Amino acid sequence: MNDRYPFILQTIQEAGVLLLSLRQEKFEVSTKGGDPRDLVTTVDLAIDNFIKSKIKEKFGDESIYSEESKEQIDPVGSFWSIDPIDGTSNFVRGIPHFAVCLTYLNGYEPLMGAVYNPVTKDLFSFQKGSGAFLNSRKIFVSTISRISDAYVLLHIGRREELRDWGIKLQCFLLGAAKKNINLGSSALDLCFLAAGRVDAVIYGSLTTLDVAVALGLVREAGGEIYTLQGEPVSLSSKPQTILASTSRVLFEEINRGSCPI
Ligand code: IPD
Ligand code: CA
Ligand code: CA
Repeated sequence: MNDRYPFILQTIQEAGVLLLSLRQEKFEVSTKGGDPRDLVTTVDLAIDNFIKSKIKEKFGDESIYSEESKEQIDPVGSFWSIDPIDGTSNFVRGIPHFAVCLTYLNGYEPLMGAVYNPVTKDLFSFQKGSGAFLNSRKIFVSTISRISDAYVLLHIGRREELRDWGIKLQCFLLGAAKKNINLGSSALDLCFLAAGRVDAVIYGSLTTLDVAVALGLVREAGGEIYTLQGEPVSLSSKPQTILASTSRVLFEEINRGSCPI
């Protein structure tokens, strides 16, 4: 187990170097699953292959799940989860808010992992029970628990059935939160919560297995992640609504917020 954490840190930084060099060359952009807004590039696929080959070289035939290939995995065993670029829409337009994600899990429980933005060189990492780190400095969620002081990242998502909920929540946040913004990489957004840069991150429709590492990071940094029903979020390969925040108090303030118009 001990050699996995240094492996993750080294591999993800090497993947970041490769990503920056491939970004200088011409790359192709295509869409996934018939959704014109769900993008994948030849760089995503190259990074995916790079990380998979590194895992195979060091750990043989251990199971790997990737956002790009969606392999079936045994939910009770150990496996790796890769999101080669989280924030591909930002990546294709040159917006430097995207990251490589690598997680090692057991039974759908993230044990360790890292998120790396090669442009800013922010390396977020965690090991269950040992804390969360940004470039080797221990990080914690902020102490903010009042909505009027909170920076909130809301991404309502594309599903039609979420629109009423999302519009009401957006309306509440416009009046109640200190800042209400949307950055476009769920993994980095959650890392920002872990590092105390923002105080709540809400995603209407998120495949948590893709960015499992970020959930582990938030929890190690003292944050909490709930469903709209107030249950702790369990990792899933199906999209779900999550509300991550510094505390239960802030979660409740946001979740019961109402729109005055
Ligand atoms: C996307 C990002 C984005 C979220 C989308 C995801 P991708 O991942 O996490 O923040 O809103 O739902 O698909 O496609 O860039 O890896
Ligand atoms: Ca991706
Ligand atoms: Ca993703």
